[in-house]
Amino acid sequence: MLLIEWNKELELGIPEIDEQHKKLVDMLNSFYTELEQGHKREAAEHFLKELEDYLIYHLEFEEKFMEEIGFPDLENHKRTHEMFKKLYLEEKERYLKGDEKAIREIIAFAFSWLFSHIMKTDKKYAKYLKEKD
Ligand SMILES: [Fe+2]
Repeated sequence: MLLIEWNKELELGIPEIDEQHKKLVDMLNSFYTELEQGHKREAAEHFLKELEDYLIYHLEFEEKFMEEIGFPDLENHKRTHEMFKKLYLEEKERYLKGDEKAIREIIAFAFSWLFSHIMKTDKKYAKYLKEKD
């Protein structure tokens, strides 16, 4: 099975946030590992629970960080986070109501979060920080 590997392109150069982003990679890999072991339901439930905790502390952490460094595009970034949280809650509802496809959508979203949000959107505040110093 192919697991996701952390790579330099995902790195912001802000150790605390990079660690948190790595956690998302770990979560996805654990999901696939459990799935491969045939524990479909456990895999989905663990992932949902972990992602929920993750969203609460990670997104808040990031927002606070951006505020502290005076990142000018904070409001737009926050809006993206809100969208993600909303989508998560909607898909979770669907899943709890018995729609198993919802988990696939959450996984797909987590992927796009890694390779689009982190690589593009989060990089903007990292760049801002670098140029500011
Ligand atoms: Fe972000």
